[in-house]
Amino acid sequence: MFAKTYANKKVLITGNTGFKGAWLSLWLKQLGASICGYSLDIPTSPSLYSCLNLASICKQYFADIKDADHLRQVIHQEKPDFIFHLAAQAIVATSYTNPTETILTNAIGTMNLCEALRTVTHPCVVLVITSDKCYENIESLWGYKETDNLGGKDIYSASKAAAENIFHAYHHSFLKKMPHIRLASARAGNVIGGGDWAANRIIVDCVKAWNHHEAVVIRNPHATRPWQHVLEPLSAYLTLGQHLFTSKTKIASCDGEAFNFGPRAEQNRQVHEVLVDLYEHWDKKITGPCFKIIADQQFYEAGLLKLNCDKALYHLQWSATLDYQKTIEYVGSWYNNYYCHANSDMLTFTLQQITDYEKQRHKTHPHEQRVTSAILQSRPEISL
Ligand SMILES: NC(=O)c1ccc[n+]([C@@H]2O[C@H](COP(=O)([O-])OP(=O)(O)OC[C@H]3O[C@@H](n4cnc5c(N)ncnc54)[C@H](O)[C@@H]3O)[C@@H](O)[C@H]2O)c1
Repeated sequence: MFAKTYANKKVLITGNTGFKGAWLSLWLKQLGASICGYSLDIPTSPSLYSCLNLASICKQYFADIKDADHLRQVIHQEKPDFIFHLAAQAIVATSYTNPTETILTNAIGTMNLCEALRTVTHPCVVLVITSDKCYENIESLWGYKETDNLGGKDIYSASKAAAENIFHAYHHSFLKKMPHIRLASARAGNVIGGGDWAANRIIVDCVKAWNHHEAVVIRNPHATRPWQHVLEPLSAYLTLGQHLFTSKTKIASCDGEAFNFGPRAEQNRQVHEVLVDLYEHWDKKITGPCFKIIADQQFYEAGLLKLNCDKALYHLQWSATLDYQKTIEYVGSWYNNYYCHANSDMLTFTLQQITDYEKQRHKTHPHEQRVTSAILQSRPEISL
């Protein structure tokens, strides 16, 4: 997959100890890359990073993205071929209790990365991971396009909009004149998947409650969400990285541009449906119903945000792969193995899900193979 773009490459992942960063590290390792990680801490306990013993496959820097000097030093020392910038204060609720830390990490952290890139002399492809929440949410029925206004009423959303603005300003002011640097930003929505233990995420609350033989307490059973598996945006990031790397020219590579990556429309389901479907995969059933409802909305969180992903389809031939049933099966079976079958080898299980996802992707995107081999034929010697 990805036309061997990542084989024998060095990839620096900021935020590699987090939920998405851990899945990305494992996938890239499987694709033949060597991984360096730059993260403040291991944000949860348990964590996917520890559960899979990713410390054994990553050269790890425990460091702060706010420390501009240290970040620059690490990039100069490691000279990565790719940087995936995921480090963030990623929880909306925490942005209410700690707004300055959220802005400093998400916005100024991105500025520190861009500043470091100005001093880089080796070829490097960079992806800045922001969020669908970077858009000014005007409760539009139609999907938001990459050219729509940025905004954000809560601090997390505003910090991601700020990260986008900073990245674009640095690109226009400095980085587009640097032929050896290619970068883009990626905007995806909330994801689900095995190994997430972050606070205030419904599926995490569920499996924790069921593990304690309790019903999970939910606030908005009829809230509708697009349930996207974590491997979907990760496949998009890897596709975008491949496109940036293999395109003949900086302009053709979509350097400096932003891309939306969203789920298929039919992924939308109400919270209560998802919990019931997830519970089907749980072997140690509890007594009584699997959830109970209370009415208590504690803080403002933007309503459903739909992304228009035509640009990703046009330039990258990327669209989502999994249907709703497969998404729930991946998530439910992962947590079931972890909690209900104590001796499961979670590394093997997680790798199997990645391999299965790759197979599903080949089935639903057979043209991808043709496109990538055509790119390789037109450009046999891949270099920037
Ligand atoms: N999980 C989602 O549903 C989702 C949705 C849209 C966008 N995103 C974005 O994707 C990225 C990864 O999200 P996640 O869910 O894996 O987050 P996470 O909370 O699981 O992990 C955050 C990572 O960032 C690191 N980090 C936090 N503060 C840091 C600092 N000051 N210096 C260095 N590292 C720091 C943590 O150590 C951890 O490795 C984030 O940028 C997030 O905003 C996530």
